[in-house]
Amino acid sequence: MRNKSLLIAVGLTAVLGILVFVAGWMFGSHRGPAEAGGPATADSVAAPPVDAPPPGGQIDAIRRGVPIDQEGAPPPMARVENADIKRVRAYPMQPPTIPHAIDGYQVDKNSNRCMLCHARANAATFQAPPVSVTHYMDRDDQFLATISPRRYFCNQCHVVQTDAKPLVANNFQDIDSVIATTPAAPVAPAKQGSE
Ligand code: HEC
Ligand code: HEC
Repeated sequence: MRNKSLLIAVGLTAVLGILVFVAGWMFGSHRGPAEAGGPATADSVAAPPVDAPPPGGQIDAIRRGVPIDQEGAPPPMARVENADIKRVRAYPMQPPTIPHAIDGYQVDKNSNRCMLCHARANAATFQAPPVSVTHYMDRDDQFLATISPRRYFCNQCHVVQTDAKPLVANNFQDIDSVIATTPAAPVAPAKQGSE
Protein backbone atom coordinates (compact mmCIF):
# COMPACT_ATOMS: atom_id res chain seq x y z
CA MET A 1 0.00 0.00 0.00
CA ARG A 2 2.75 2.37 0.99
CA ASN A 3 4.81 1.32 -1.99
CA LYS A 4 1.90 1.91 -4.31
CA SER A 5 1.42 5.55 -3.30
CA LEU A 6 5.16 6.07 -3.58
CA LEU A 7 5.06 4.67 -7.11
CA ILE A 8 2.15 6.95 -8.01
CA ALA A 9 4.00 9.95 -6.61
CA VAL A 10 7.14 9.09 -8.58
CA GLY A 11 5.08 8.52 -11.71
CA LEU A 12 3.27 11.84 -11.35
CA THR A 13 6.55 13.66 -10.79
CA ALA A 14 8.02 12.07 -13.90
CA VAL A 15 4.99 13.01 -16.02
CA LEU A 16 5.09 16.55 -14.66
CA GLY A 17 8.83 16.75 -15.43
CA ILE A 18 8.28 15.59 -19.00
CA LEU A 19 5.46 18.10 -19.44
CA VAL A 20 7.64 20.96 -18.18
CA PHE A 21 10.49 19.82 -20.43
CA VAL A 22 8.25 19.60 -23.53
CA ALA A 23 6.69 22.96 -22.74
CA GLY A 24 10.12 24.55 -22.29
CA TRP A 25 11.39 22.96 -25.46
CA MET A 26 8.38 24.14 -27.48
CA PHE A 27 8.55 27.61 -25.97
CA GLY A 28 12.28 27.81 -26.64
CA SER A 29 12.12 26.60 -30.23
CA HIS A 30 9.16 28.87 -30.83
CA ARG A 31 11.08 31.90 -29.64
CA GLY A 32 14.27 30.95 -31.44
CA PRO A 33 13.53 32.05 -35.01
CA ALA A 34 11.64 35.14 -33.85
CA GLU A 35 14.64 36.30 -31.84
CA ALA A 36 17.12 35.44 -34.58
CA GLY A 37 15.55 38.04 -36.85
CA GLY A 38 17.80 40.84 -35.60
CA PRO A 39 21.26 39.38 -34.99
CA ALA A 40 21.02 36.93 -37.94
CA THR A 41 22.28 39.61 -40.29
CA ALA A 42 25.15 40.43 -37.95
CA ASP A 43 26.07 36.73 -37.71
CA SER A 44 26.16 36.19 -41.42
CA VAL A 45 28.18 39.34 -41.99
CA ALA A 46 30.70 38.37 -39.32
CA ALA A 47 31.07 34.82 -40.66
CA PRO A 48 34.32 35.16 -42.66
CA PRO A 49 37.15 35.29 -40.12
CA VAL A 50 39.48 37.35 -42.29
CA ASP A 51 38.30 40.23 -44.36
CA ALA A 52 39.58 43.47 -45.72
CA PRO A 53 37.96 46.61 -44.34
CA PRO A 54 34.63 46.74 -46.18
CA PRO A 55 33.97 49.68 -48.45
CA GLY A 56 31.74 52.50 -47.28
CA GLY A 57 33.62 54.11 -44.43
CA GLN A 58 33.58 51.40 -41.77
CA ILE A 59 34.49 53.02 -38.47
CA ASP A 60 36.41 50.07 -37.11
CA ALA A 61 37.57 47.43 -39.58
CA ILE A 62 37.79 44.87 -36.77
CA ARG A 63 33.96 44.94 -36.69
CA ARG A 64 34.17 43.28 -40.11
CA GLY A 65 31.16 45.01 -41.59
CA VAL A 66 28.75 44.48 -38.70
CA PRO A 67 26.76 47.70 -38.32
CA ILE A 68 27.60 49.71 -35.25
CA ASP A 69 24.19 49.14 -33.64
CA GLN A 70 24.48 45.36 -33.87
CA GLU A 71 26.64 42.85 -32.09
CA GLY A 72 28.80 40.67 -34.27
CA ALA A 73 29.49 37.01 -33.65
CA PRO A 74 32.90 36.84 -31.92
CA PRO A 75 35.48 34.61 -33.61
CA PRO A 76 36.24 31.39 -31.74
CA MET A 77 38.85 31.57 -28.98
CA ALA A 78 42.36 31.05 -30.27
CA ARG A 79 44.43 28.06 -29.20
CA VAL A 80 47.91 28.73 -27.79
CA GLU A 81 50.63 26.93 -29.71
CA ASN A 82 53.12 25.21 -27.45
CA ALA A 83 55.43 23.83 -30.11
CA ASP A 84 58.81 25.43 -29.25
CA ILE A 85 59.00 26.63 -32.84
CA LYS A 86 60.17 30.19 -33.45
CA ARG A 87 58.27 32.37 -35.86
CA VAL A 88 60.05 34.63 -38.26
CA ARG A 89 60.29 38.23 -37.05
CA ALA A 90 58.72 40.72 -39.44
CA TYR A 91 61.48 43.25 -38.71
CA PRO A 92 64.73 43.10 -36.73
CA MET A 93 63.47 44.88 -33.62
CA GLN A 94 60.24 42.95 -33.35
CA PRO A 95 59.87 41.34 -29.92
CA PRO A 96 59.91 37.62 -30.77
CA THR A 97 56.64 35.79 -30.14
CA ILE A 98 56.73 33.32 -27.25
CA PRO A 99 57.02 29.76 -28.60
CA HIS A 100 55.68 28.16 -25.42
CA ALA A 101 52.58 28.41 -23.24
CA ILE A 102 52.79 30.85 -20.32
CA ASP A 103 49.69 29.81 -18.39
CA GLY A 104 50.10 30.62 -14.73
CA TYR A 105 53.49 32.33 -15.08
CA GLN A 106 53.40 35.02 -12.43
CA VAL A 107 54.84 38.40 -13.35
CA ASP A 108 54.18 41.02 -10.71
CA LYS A 109 55.85 43.19 -8.08
CA ASN A 110 57.06 40.19 -6.10
CA SER A 111 58.17 37.74 -8.72
CA ASN A 112 58.99 37.39 -12.39
CA ARG A 113 58.54 33.82 -13.53
CA CYS A 114 59.96 34.50 -16.98
CA MET A 115 63.32 35.50 -15.58
CA LEU A 116 63.59 32.14 -13.82
CA CYS A 117 64.56 30.74 -17.21
CA HIS A 118 65.43 33.79 -19.28
CA ALA A 119 67.94 35.44 -16.95
CA ARG A 120 71.47 35.11 -18.24
CA ALA A 121 72.52 33.14 -15.16
CA ASN A 122 69.77 30.54 -15.57
CA ALA A 123 69.83 30.14 -19.33
CA ALA A 124 72.14 27.13 -19.25
CA THR A 125 69.99 25.28 -16.75
CA PHE A 126 66.73 25.77 -18.65
CA GLN A 127 68.15 25.98 -22.20
CA ALA A 128 66.21 29.20 -22.72
CA PRO A 129 67.61 32.09 -24.76
CA PRO A 130 68.70 34.76 -22.26
CA VAL A 131 67.01 38.13 -22.67
CA SER A 132 69.11 40.33 -24.89
CA VAL A 133 71.25 43.15 -23.60
CA THR A 134 68.56 45.73 -24.41
CA HIS A 135 66.58 44.30 -21.52
CA TYR A 136 69.23 45.55 -19.11
CA MET A 137 69.36 49.07 -20.49
CA ASP A 138 67.64 52.02 -18.90
CA ARG A 139 66.26 54.89 -20.94
CA ASP A 140 69.65 56.60 -20.99
CA ASP A 141 71.19 53.44 -22.48
CA GLN A 142 73.02 52.71 -19.23
CA PHE A 143 73.40 49.01 -18.45
CA LEU A 144 71.87 47.83 -15.23
CA ALA A 145 72.81 44.77 -13.18
CA THR A 146 69.30 43.37 -13.28
CA ILE A 147 66.43 43.50 -15.73
CA SER A 148 65.43 47.06 -16.55
CA PRO A 149 62.11 48.24 -15.12
CA ARG A 150 61.22 49.13 -18.68
CA ARG A 151 61.50 45.47 -19.64
CA TYR A 152 60.13 43.93 -16.48
CA PHE A 153 56.59 43.18 -17.67
CA CYS A 154 57.44 40.83 -20.52
CA ASN A 155 53.89 40.50 -21.85
CA GLN A 156 53.82 44.19 -22.62
CA CYS A 157 55.83 43.34 -25.72
CA HIS A 158 55.96 39.54 -26.08
CA VAL A 159 52.84 37.58 -26.90
CA VAL A 160 52.24 33.85 -27.06
CA GLN A 161 51.80 32.25 -30.45
CA THR A 162 48.20 31.30 -31.22
CA ASP A 163 46.36 29.89 -34.20
CA ALA A 164 44.21 33.04 -34.41
CA LYS A 165 43.56 34.28 -37.92
CA PRO A 166 44.25 37.96 -38.60
CA LEU A 167 41.10 39.98 -37.90
CA VAL A 168 41.86 42.46 -40.65
CA ALA A 169 43.64 41.73 -43.89
CA ASN A 170 46.84 43.69 -44.50
CA ASN A 171 49.48 43.83 -47.17
CA PHE A 172 52.57 44.22 -45.00
CA GLN A 173 55.72 43.11 -46.79
CA ASP A 174 58.89 41.96 -45.11
CA ILE A 175 61.89 44.12 -46.09
CA ASP A 176 63.59 41.08 -47.62
CA SER A 177 60.72 40.52 -50.03
CA VAL A 178 60.66 44.24 -50.84
CA ILE A 179 64.38 44.14 -51.67
CA ALA A 180 63.92 40.95 -53.68
CA THR A 181 61.13 42.36 -55.86
CA THR A 182 62.44 45.93 -56.31
CA PRO A 183 64.77 46.29 -59.31
CA ALA A 184 68.08 47.91 -58.39
CA ALA A 185 67.60 51.69 -58.39
CA PRO A 186 69.60 53.37 -61.16
CA VAL A 187 72.31 55.75 -59.92
CA ALA A 188 71.61 59.38 -60.91
CA PRO A 189 74.81 60.55 -62.63
CA ALA A 190 73.65 64.16 -63.10
CA LYS A 191 73.32 64.79 -59.36
CA GLN A 192 76.65 63.17 -58.61
CA GLY A 193 78.37 65.36 -61.19
CA SER A 194 76.92 68.58 -59.86
CA GLU A 195 78.23 68.02 -56.35
C1 HEC B 1 60.51 26.99 -17.65
C2 HEC B 1 61.40 27.93 -18.32
C3 HEC B 1 60.78 29.11 -19.04
C4 HEC B 1 59.94 30.06 -18.52
C5 HEC B 1 59.37 30.16 -17.10
C6 HEC B 1 59.67 30.99 -19.60
N1 HEC B 1 60.35 30.60 -20.73
FE1 HEC B 1 60.40 31.58 -22.49
N2 HEC B 1 61.53 30.11 -23.32
C7 HEC B 1 62.00 29.00 -22.63
C8 HEC B 1 62.74 28.15 -23.55
C9 HEC B 1 63.41 26.83 -23.20
C10 HEC B 1 62.69 28.81 -24.82
C11 HEC B 1 63.32 28.33 -26.12
C12 HEC B 1 62.26 27.81 -27.06
C13 HEC B 1 61.50 26.69 -26.45
O1 HEC B 1 62.10 25.67 -26.12
O2 HEC B 1 60.27 26.87 -26.26
C14 HEC B 1 61.93 30.03 -24.62
C15 HEC B 1 61.68 30.93 -25.61
C16 HEC B 1 61.10 32.19 -25.40
C17 HEC B 1 61.02 33.25 -26.39
C18 HEC B 1 61.51 33.19 -27.84
C19 HEC B 1 62.87 33.83 -27.97
C20 HEC B 1 63.30 33.90 -29.41
O3 HEC B 1 64.48 34.26 -29.63
O4 HEC B 1 62.51 33.62 -30.31
C21 HEC B 1 60.41 34.30 -25.80
C22 HEC B 1 60.09 35.64 -26.41
C23 HEC B 1 60.08 33.90 -24.44
N3 HEC B 1 60.52 32.61 -24.23
C24 HEC B 1 59.43 34.70 -23.53
C25 HEC B 1 59.02 34.27 -22.28
C26 HEC B 1 58.17 35.05 -21.41
C27 HEC B 1 57.61 36.42 -21.74
C28 HEC B 1 57.98 34.32 -20.28
C29 HEC B 1 57.14 34.64 -19.06
C30 HEC B 1 55.74 34.95 -19.31
C31 HEC B 1 58.74 33.09 -20.45
N4 HEC B 1 59.33 33.09 -21.67
C32 HEC B 1 58.86 32.10 -19.47
C33 HEC B 1 61.84 28.73 -21.29
C34 HEC B 1 61.03 29.45 -20.42
C1 HEC C 1 59.50 47.12 -24.11
C2 HEC C 1 59.32 45.88 -24.82
C3 HEC C 1 59.89 44.61 -24.23
C4 HEC C 1 59.73 44.08 -22.98
C5 HEC C 1 58.92 44.66 -21.83
C6 HEC C 1 60.43 42.82 -22.95
N1 HEC C 1 61.01 42.59 -24.16
FE1 HEC C 1 62.05 40.94 -24.72
N2 HEC C 1 62.46 41.78 -26.51
C7 HEC C 1 61.98 42.98 -26.96
C8 HEC C 1 62.53 43.27 -28.27
C9 HEC C 1 62.22 44.51 -29.10
C10 HEC C 1 63.38 42.17 -28.60
C11 HEC C 1 64.18 41.98 -29.88
C12 HEC C 1 65.31 42.94 -29.98
C13 HEC C 1 66.16 42.89 -28.78
O1 HEC C 1 66.74 41.86 -28.50
O2 HEC C 1 66.19 43.92 -28.08
C14 HEC C 1 63.30 41.26 -27.48
C15 HEC C 1 63.99 40.06 -27.41
C16 HEC C 1 63.78 39.09 -26.43
C17 HEC C 1 64.34 37.76 -26.44
C18 HEC C 1 65.22 37.17 -27.52
C19 HEC C 1 66.63 37.54 -27.21
C20 HEC C 1 67.55 37.16 -28.31
O3 HEC C 1 68.76 37.34 -28.13
O4 HEC C 1 67.09 36.70 -29.36
C21 HEC C 1 63.91 37.12 -25.32
C22 HEC C 1 64.21 35.71 -24.88
C23 HEC C 1 63.11 38.06 -24.57
N3 HEC C 1 63.06 39.25 -25.27
C24 HEC C 1 62.51 37.81 -23.36
C25 HEC C 1 61.90 38.78 -22.57
C26 HEC C 1 61.51 38.57 -21.20
C27 HEC C 1 61.65 37.27 -20.44
C28 HEC C 1 60.98 39.76 -20.76
C29 HEC C 1 60.46 40.09 -19.37
C30 HEC C 1 61.43 39.99 -18.30
C31 HEC C 1 61.01 40.69 -21.86
N4 HEC C 1 61.60 40.07 -22.93
C32 HEC C 1 60.51 42.00 -21.84
C33 HEC C 1 61.11 43.80 -26.30
C34 HEC C 1 60.70 43.64 -24.98
